[in-house]
Formats: sequence, C-alpha cells, structure tokens
Amino acid sequence: MSDGRFDRFVGVGLGIDVHNEQPDWRAILGSDLPVDFFEVYTRGTLAAAHEVAAAAAAAGDLPLLYHDDALDPIRPEGLIAADLEAARVNMAAVAAPWCVSELATRRIGDRYLDFFMPILLTEEAADAAAENMRLIEAALPGRIVAENPPYLLPVGPLHILEVLARVTERAGCDCVLDTGHLYSFQICRGLDPLAGVDAFPLERVVELHVAGAEVEDEGGVALYHDSHGAAEIPPVLLEMLAEIAPRCPNLRAVTIEVEDANLERCARQLEQTREAVAGLLAARPSDRSD
Ligand SMILES: [Fe+2]
Repeated sequence: MSDGRFDRFVGVGLGIDVHNEQPDWRAILGSDLPVDFFEVYTRGTLAAAHEVAAAAAAAGDLPLLYHDDALDPIRPEGLIAADLEAARVNMAAVAAPWCVSELATRRIGDRYLDFFMPILLTEEAADAAAENMRLIEAALPGRIVAENPPYLLPVGPLHILEVLARVTERAGCDCVLDTGHLYSFQICRGLDPLAGVDAFPLERVVELHVAGAEVEDEGGVALYHDSHGAAEIPPVLLEMLAEIAPRCPNLRAVTIEVEDANLERCARQLEQTREAVAGLLAARPSDRSD
C-alpha cells in the first residue's frame, strides 16, 4: 500500500491534540515555523478531524498522520467495535497513510481507568497484541503502526524492544520508536539508553518520537514523567534520536509531541530536533524536485 507523501522521509513534524488550548495548531499553520507535517490526536471527534484536514490543506497542503490512543490493542479480550469505527472515520477524514497506536490500554475488562497501562513484557502479551493489530489494520483505511509505550513499572521478563519486534513480526506491521518511552523503560531496568537497539529490526521503524519529560529521583528511584509539551526535551532523548535516526532505512517522519507547549517552546523544540537529524534533513530530496 502506498503511503503517499510519506513514501519517503518527510522531515520533522508536530504531534498536536486538537482539543488542547495550546499549542494553538491554527496559529502554527499560520506561522513560519519549520513544520513538515502534523500528527493529530482528534480523540474520536470527527468534526475536529475535518476541521484540521481543511486547515492543513489550505495552509499549503501540510501532510497529516493520525494518532489514536483509544484502540487498546493489548486487550486480550479483543477490540471494541465503537472505538475501531471512530478510528476508521477519523483517520479517513485526515487522509493519513498510517495510524499510530501505543501498545497500551486504559481498560481492565470493561472498566475504564484514566491510567495508561503498557503491555506486559511476555510472549503471550505480544501475540495477543499482534492479533489485535492485524484486526485493526483490516478495519482501517490505511496502515496501523505500533508504538512502544512509556513505563514506570515494567512487568515481565522481556525487553520492550523484544516485545515490539515480536508484535511487528507477527502482525506484519511497522512501528514508531518513541525515544522518551524507550528511555523510561531503560531507567526502570538500569540499562543504557540504547540497550537492545542493536538487535532490533530497525527497518521496521517508519517514525521516531521525541517529547518533553521530567526525570525525577524519588527516594533513590528514577521515575520518568512523560510530560510532552509541558516540559523541555531531555538532552539524552535528542542524543538517542541522533544515534537511531540514521540507522532506520525506512524512516519517514520524526514527530515532536508538543501537546500543552506554547509557541515559543514549539519553536525551540523544533530547532533542537531538526539539529539532531540535520544530516537526514539535508539529504532529503527537495519538494520542488518532484
Ligand atoms: Fe509517542
């Protein structure tokens, strides 16, 4: 299946939540910030999906990706039809080539918890997620890609990169590597930031994420708070990005998740992130050469 304009490396974009007061995504579209695409969270609101699609088209046809955190692809009980349908129509409205979904859930059985629980680090959990990812992809108008979730308390014997590799292989899908989420896992296990990367099938990575975060020492335990736009990007994440990005032969997009950031912080994080992948941006074919 063609990914349209994402058939090649598009550049550095912003992950925005259309329901957040800031950053004001309309103001970003009207600014001269160097944004190559948006990855939009619409949280299932179809009118918002249509609005952002129309505005992006009017602002020079900015490409869009779609991020859905309601699909709950790790639920062993299977998928929820209403959430799958919401993802389908919202993704179609923004004409995204792929939908990003973390390997996480907010539900236990039928109970909804406002806590994002990451996948258990077992082969059984990976197999259940892979089966769900196949079902999700069959229902969507484009591809599903799996993202590694954040961890505060990893449960299970495997490394998250082993689980992600197994899901992508079994489901036949590609993935997003979120550098902050990976770092959160590594500090839980006392590992180096890039532990496990050498053994990971990096050809599966179509997108990389960076985001603001705070790492706090709480009683001698380092905890990663995935703050997105409410904090600055820790330098270690930019170092991880600079190291990993050139090693992903099918990388199409680098996304800064900036929900809750003001425009000044968006500008600063764009500059930092573009600097970290400057080599890839320089090698990117010019849009005008097509
Ligand atoms: Fe992410």
